[in-house]
Amino acid sequence: MTLPDITYTLRTASPAKTRAEAVVVGIGQGAKAVEVTAGAEDVKAAYGRRWRGMLATLGVSGKAGEVTRLPAGNEIGAQLLVLVGLGKPDADGTYTSDAVRRAAGAAARAVPNATSVAVSLPADTPDLVRAVTEGYVLGGYTYTAYKSSTAKSGAESNGPNDVAILSSIARRTDAVTAFEEAQILAQAVAGTREWVNVPPADLTPPAFADAIAHVAGLVEGVETTVFDEEQLAELGCGGILAVGMGSAAKPRLVELTYSPDDARGHIALVGKGITFDSGGLTIKPGSSMSTMKSDMAGAAAVAQATFAIARLGLPVKVSAFVPMAENMVSGSSYRPGDVVTHYGGTTVEVSNMDAEGRMVLADALVRATEVSPDLIIDVATLTGHMVMALGDRVSGVLGSEDVVDRVLAAADVAGEQMWPMPIPEWMDERIRSSKVADLSQHDWIRWGGGLYAAAFLREFTDGLPWAHLDIAGPSFNSGGASGHLTPGGTGVAVATLVDYVREMATDQ
Ligand code: BES
Ligand code: MN
Ligand code: ZN
Repeated sequence: MTLPDITYTLRTASPAKTRAEAVVVGIGQGAKAVEVTAGAEDVKAAYGRRWRGMLATLGVSGKAGEVTRLPAGNEIGAQLLVLVGLGKPDADGTYTSDAVRRAAGAAARAVPNATSVAVSLPADTPDLVRAVTEGYVLGGYTYTAYKSSTAKSGAESNGPNDVAILSSIARRTDAVTAFEEAQILAQAVAGTREWVNVPPADLTPPAFADAIAHVAGLVEGVETTVFDEEQLAELGCGGILAVGMGSAAKPRLVELTYSPDDARGHIALVGKGITFDSGGLTIKPGSSMSTMKSDMAGAAAVAQATFAIARLGLPVKVSAFVPMAENMVSGSSYRPGDVVTHYGGTTVEVSNMDAEGRMVLADALVRATEVSPDLIIDVATLTGHMVMALGDRVSGVLGSEDVVDRVLAAADVAGEQMWPMPIPEWMDERIRSSKVADLSQHDWIRWGGGLYAAAFLREFTDGLPWAHLDIAGPSFNSGGASGHLTPGGTGVAVATLVDYVREMATDQ
């Protein structure tokens, strides 16, 4: 994986006295003036009367995302001072976890080659310790697997990195737990980014299934089953096969189970794993196809969330279902007018080969209902409609009201932007409009296509509590790095799923 080799520690040390190559200090836009954030006051004190003028000369404003680097003199223990903007504080003078997570991400990129860094950002609660840790780990993520070795790091890296996260509560066990759990979560998010970033020729369904099975083998307590195309045919997974048989790389279904002895609940996760979406015979225009290696982001998120939940030892059973196919154009592609029989027997008349996500998810959802979970959450880069509605940073959440509410609450804790969308009752009529099969895959009415898709998926959930996360927009960042977000795969939904399960673990 392309996370730098960093050893993290959590310490109570003073940022002014800590010996390190670089010290990161938070700067906010206080009510009257630019301010040093809590915990870093002694850095300001070390510069005495020169501090204000120095910041003014450098044009430091404290706005979010601003990074200023300056060589330190003898004033402080570090050789380099890195000032990172946090924006405006809340009314009570504190900074949100989201602001801190973003600032920590920007900080990680400011000093990529330092052998030792001390980070002094607001971290006086376990939630903020988590935010600094996650932000720093994720902000430093880069995808270098295909860079030839000379181009890989730009400047030669100085070797092992030590990053000390400074916090006044570093000795508290809840802070240490937050710190350790944040690293596990961030690794799962980075693992998701990594899979999304792999070129699609190298992450075909068989290769992706192998990759998941390989990682699952390293995580204690996770069992894996992989179904190949022949086994899928025996099972009757007509949706996965219909989409996948147009490709030379055959489809797969991966199932993961984490079943702790002390399980207090059972969640089923389903993730869309289209390793490349050309649109099939209803082929996409080139510009829409260019990022379609990311069409397996839901699958990657669901698998990595399962690994994180197992590594965290959360007392909740997880059953994950990951259908994988490559949606291609060939003599064996599925075609408009075909009728597909899904796992479980429901028949669907297909008309748009680019609405392939729902076809593979339908089989997997029915598999999920068979393990009798308390609820099902599916995660999918499902529709461009959701991107039109909510933009590229907000995921849509649809489904049973109570599950949707709990997903939104978990997203809030996780620092991911999600928004509820309805499944209007008249969608039922639209999905049942086929004259030859039980359901219509698609009806060429563009309005509300993301809601139609959810209504379609619901047919395969057997009335169980369920939510569908449409991550088509937020799963891939076509722009540059910003905060803890890096170019390419984002790993969206992993944190929300883990926080959802954390909350389930506290249920009675
Ligand atoms: N993978 C796409 C959705 C998508 C669009 C993901 C943009 C990420 C960014 C999906 O398979 C698709 O093609 N959806 C169609 C649905 C339509 C045919 C009902 C779409 O968005 O047009
Ligand atoms: Mn498609
Ligand atoms: Zn797709």
